[in-house]
Amino acid sequence: MAIIQFPKDMKWGVATASYQIEGAVNEGGRGVSIWDTFSKTPGKVVNGDNGDVACDSYHRYNEDLEIMEDLGVDFYRFSVAWPRIFPNGTGELNQEGLDYYHQLVDSLLEKGIEPMCTLYHWDLPQALQDKGGWANRETIDAYINYAEVMFNEFKGKIKHWITFNEPWCVSFLSNFAGIHAPGNQDLQLAVDVAHHLHVAHGKAVIRFRELGVEGQIGYAPNVEWNEPYSNKQEDIDACKRANAYFMDWFFDPVFKGSYPQFMVDWFEKKGVTLNIEEGDMEIIHQPIDFLGINYYSGSVGRYKENEGLFDHEKVDTGYLKTDIGWNVYPEGFYKVLTHIGETYGDVPIYITENGSCYNDEPEHGQVKDNKRVDYLKQHLVSLHRSMETGVNIKGYLTWSLLDNFEWAEGYTMRFGIVHVNYRTLERTKKDSFYWYKQTISNNFFEV
Ligand code: NOJ
Repeated sequence: MAIIQFPKDMKWGVATASYQIEGAVNEGGRGVSIWDTFSKTPGKVVNGDNGDVACDSYHRYNEDLEIMEDLGVDFYRFSVAWPRIFPNGTGELNQEGLDYYHQLVDSLLEKGIEPMCTLYHWDLPQALQDKGGWANRETIDAYINYAEVMFNEFKGKIKHWITFNEPWCVSFLSNFAGIHAPGNQDLQLAVDVAHHLHVAHGKAVIRFRELGVEGQIGYAPNVEWNEPYSNKQEDIDACKRANAYFMDWFFDPVFKGSYPQFMVDWFEKKGVTLNIEEGDMEIIHQPIDFLGINYYSGSVGRYKENEGLFDHEKVDTGYLKTDIGWNVYPEGFYKVLTHIGETYGDVPIYITENGSCYNDEPEHGQVKDNKRVDYLKQHLVSLHRSMETGVNIKGYLTWSLLDNFEWAEGYTMRFGIVHVNYRTLERTKKDSFYWYKQTISNNFFEV
């Protein structure tokens, strides 16, 4: 038996996102987002599910807040639906949308829970997509206008801001793999989008500083770890590319002011050019106050000619898998964090997401999700190890408070520590909820 003890100032939290939990898509003056359009396009989401109702948190947020109060979290990370603030992306401001988030934030503060606000967690106003979305640089201006309104409106209340959630998903998953909205399959477009997200991020940080907003700003890339199958140089190189797809491509511009050259060369071989305008890299290269990290999984990988984008294939070495089919790979969490610490320096890190999909259902009012508890324990052990080597971890937020709309997987994949019955919308705290509650209150756990 060992005790995994966290430092006194360790912060704990839970995370959600607007489209995944709010529902009420036609209420409060909200405009249409790309996820409304995408989820209603046949064949895009499992079972034709959509976020019309989701967890109905738009109406039930008080119940959700009580659940969080019971859990004892320091932080609630939520996202703002841009189309609730600007139904058309830009132009007319919707006061009702602002009022909704004021109520949410005020209630959080009353309960002593700190809001961590993600400005963009994927629900782009459809009106902006109609003009090209993130491939069009005008969307950057619209985003800055929206961000500025949010900063001015919530300064003094929200002290932790995240410009973008998982820019890899917004660019490559959504515009190259075509799995998420808007569903394009065009590598050049995806690379352009990634660059525009970087510019928008940098401009938002600049605006945040100019406005003198009290608090901290960062962004939250998703990362994976690919471990080479052998010591062969070709396997090492293939994994280096696969890792850079998630990490270097999204970290180097922000931390170093440049794109990784070996990746630029690789993309060039695929016929892709980097469309950078003068001044862009300086804009992107802004000091940030913290880095958010979303980690779920990783794999062993090796070189395979013409496989995927990077001549890289995953090798199934027998890791346990969660119900969504992702490897349980806590060692990768440690490797990712130490790699980031070594490569990008002493940046304060919040784990803005980590969690697992297990589809356990309630039986007599109890959800025995012991596999989720195991997953959390193993990942927190890795996190703790990384902290012992000096990685500057400030907090850990699990994904997610609630089972919710899991994008292209609809309601079939459950990541919550609280179960949601999608027919009655009843919430049931799972065993993992009680385990996490105990861990937060102790600031340690036993393994
Ligand atoms: C990352 C995303 O930010 C979140 O929206 C999603 O539900 C989880 N990963 C699980 O896939």
